[in-house]
Amino acid sequence: MGAKILTTAIHKGGEGKTTSTIQFAAYLAGEKNQKVCLIDMDPSSNATITVIDGPVSGLSVVDVLLGKTDLLSIMAKTRIPGLDLIPASNELKGFSMAAAKEPSMEFRLLDLIEGNGLKEAYDFILIDSPPSLELLTVNALAASEWFLVPLRCASYSVKGLVDLSAFVAKLKQRVTPNLKLLGIFITQFRGWNRLDRNIYESIENYLLKGNQPLLKTIIRESVVVRESIAERLPVWKYNPKADVSRDYLLLCDEIFNKIGFCNQIAEQVSGGVNVG
Ligand SMILES: Nc1ncnc2c1ncn2[C@@H]1O[C@H](COP(=O)(O)OP(=O)(O)O)[C@@H](O)[C@H]1O
Ligand SMILES: [Mg+2]
Repeated sequence: MGAKILTTAIHKGGEGKTTSTIQFAAYLAGEKNQKVCLIDMDPSSNATITVIDGPVSGLSVVDVLLGKTDLLSIMAKTRIPGLDLIPASNELKGFSMAAAKEPSMEFRLLDLIEGNGLKEAYDFILIDSPPSLELLTVNALAASEWFLVPLRCASYSVKGLVDLSAFVAKLKQRVTPNLKLLGIFITQFRGWNRLDRNIYESIENYLLKGNQPLLKTIIRESVVVRESIAERLPVWKYNPKADVSRDYLLLCDEIFNKIGFCNQIAEQVSGGVNVG
C-alpha cells in the first residue's frame, strides 16, 4: 500500500493552502498518531517556517530535486511528534530555470519520494504547493494520488476553478493520469449575506455541472487562524473553543474519512456552518 500522497493546490495566493495543509498534517500526526511527512514546495516557505523545530537551515527540497544533496541532510524535525518536514527555501524559485535543460523534470519529486523509500516510511505525505501552475506545482501533482483545493468565496472564485480545471485536465492527459480531486472546500467564509450566498451557489452549480466534489465543511474566517499560525500551533490547540477550530477538525474528519481513514474526533461536537 504505502503512504497516501495528497497535494493542496490552487494557483491563487491567499486561498488557504498553507494554513490548511498545516492543519491536515497536525491532525494526522498529532490527533491520529499517523506518521506524516510534509513537503513544502513553495519558495515562500511559510509551511516550513511554521512547523520546523529549530532554525531554518540553508538547504532545502530544491537541492535534493537538483541532485545537489541527499534527502537525509535536509529532512527536518517539527514541533509535532510524528510529523517530519522536507523544507522549502527561496531557492525553489530557480527550479524551473535549472530544470529547463533536463528532460522529465515533472517527475523529480516523485523520483525523490520513491527513491528514498518515503512511501514505505510514512502513512501520509502532504505537499504544500506554490500559488502558480508552474513546474513546482506540476511536480507536486505528479507525485500525488489526490489533490485538495481551498477556495475563498469571492467574485473571482469560479474563474479560478475554471482555470484550475483546464490545467488539471491537460496535466492528466500528459503527466498524471491517476490524479484524483478529493474535494474543494471553502475557506475564510464570512457569512451568509446575499452576495456570499450567490457566490456560494455559483461555485456549487459550476462544480455540480463538472461533477467535481464540493466538501460539506466550510471554514469560517477568524482571526484565531492567523493568531494560531503566529503562535505556530494547530488552530484547535491554540484555541479549542473557537468555531474555526471545530471547522478544521470537521473538515479533516470529512477529508480523511473520504479516503477510508475513519475515527472521528469532531463528530461529538455540533454547530458547524450549515450548507445552504
Ligand atoms: N479561516 C481563516 N480565517 C482568517 N484568516 C485565514 C484563514 N485561513 C487562512 N487565513 C490567513 O489568510 C492568509 C493566506 O492563507 P494561506 O494559507 O497562507 O494561503 P495560501 O497558502 O493559499 O497562499 C494567511 O495570512 C492566513 O493566516
Ligand atoms: Mg501558501
